[in-house]
Amino acid sequence: MHSIDFYRTAFISYLKEKIQTKEPRNLYEPISYILGLGGKRLRPVLTLLSTEIFDVDHKKALDAALAIEVFHNFSLVHDDIMDAAPLRRGAATVHEKWDVNTGILSGDAMLITAYQLFENYGSDRFRDLAKLFSTTALQVCEGQQYDIDFEGRDDVILPEYLKMIEYKTAVLVAAALKMGGIIADASEQDQSKIYEFGLNLGIAFQLQDDYLDAFGDPKTFGKQVGGDIIENKKTVLYLNVLANGTNLQKKELLDLYSIQPNNPSAKIENIKGIFMESGAAELARTSTVEYTDRAFKILASMDISENKMEVLRGFGEQLMAREE
Ligand code: IPE
Ligand code: IPE
Ligand code: MG
Ligand code: MG
Ligand code: MG
Repeated sequence: MHSIDFYRTAFISYLKEKIQTKEPRNLYEPISYILGLGGKRLRPVLTLLSTEIFDVDHKKALDAALAIEVFHNFSLVHDDIMDAAPLRRGAATVHEKWDVNTGILSGDAMLITAYQLFENYGSDRFRDLAKLFSTTALQVCEGQQYDIDFEGRDDVILPEYLKMIEYKTAVLVAAALKMGGIIADASEQDQSKIYEFGLNLGIAFQLQDDYLDAFGDPKTFGKQVGGDIIENKKTVLYLNVLANGTNLQKKELLDLYSIQPNNPSAKIENIKGIFMESGAAELARTSTVEYTDRAFKILASMDISENKMEVLRGFGEQLMAREE
């Protein structure tokens, strides 16, 4: 078992080797661009980690890890179109740098590339990996649709939100881990436990993402701070105000969410004030810790060595402290 940095470095060199720009350039250049912008590489690292947790060499998992990262980047390219986001990883989004059509088609090609990478596995593993991938990818689409549907609603409740983030974000984190289990031929029970660990970690991760979208430092965050507010997203911060704020705070929030000023900075600042004063921000942090703890409890019930558990715990702790 190596360190998290070791797996990240191993993954990045594999990605550089495999992802090359070819003709037509307008299709492939945006793919190299977005994949080359970096990002935290969380999901592929989890696939490699999980393979070694179940005692198989991480090298066997490189193609699955790459598939997961290419799919994740596809989802970001299309997500940035849907969210009208100008900035990703501190640089222009694909549809800003090129145009929307380029983002759509390069995204499509990435989705297919991801699927194709599973063809590098023998028939039994290919079937299991592809099955998990298809189910997961459809759930991500469902989660993304709920996210968009919620923009136009003001009666979204917490359980609906939790389902939405489970689908748009957590299932991919869970699948990244389970793929390691599939490649390593881990028992059904181990595979489902590592999946549940990932699901809870993924929910914590999206809660934290919502928090950072409002309260991240523009210097480190890499995305447009306040982007969710501009897009009327029904984030955990918004829902916490409606569940726990005073009547005045709720009314102010709903009023602010109903206007679309040309310059949104005053709206963003006012809403952030409500998130803080109502306790919504603090509560989002508490929920992040809660879901991370749930993940850790599942981890503790697994029959793996203390040293391996420590690496996964360290990973979860790093996620909670992240600023990007
Ligand atoms: C962003 O994911 C999309 C979400 C599910 C919140 P990451 O925060 O993992 O993005 P990168 O890959 O590190 O840029
Ligand atoms: C993205 O959720 C989930 C997927 C890309 C599937 P967000 O819209 O919150 O992600 P960011 O904040 O743009 O990274
Ligand atoms: Mg987005
Ligand atoms: Mg989105
Ligand atoms: Mg977000």
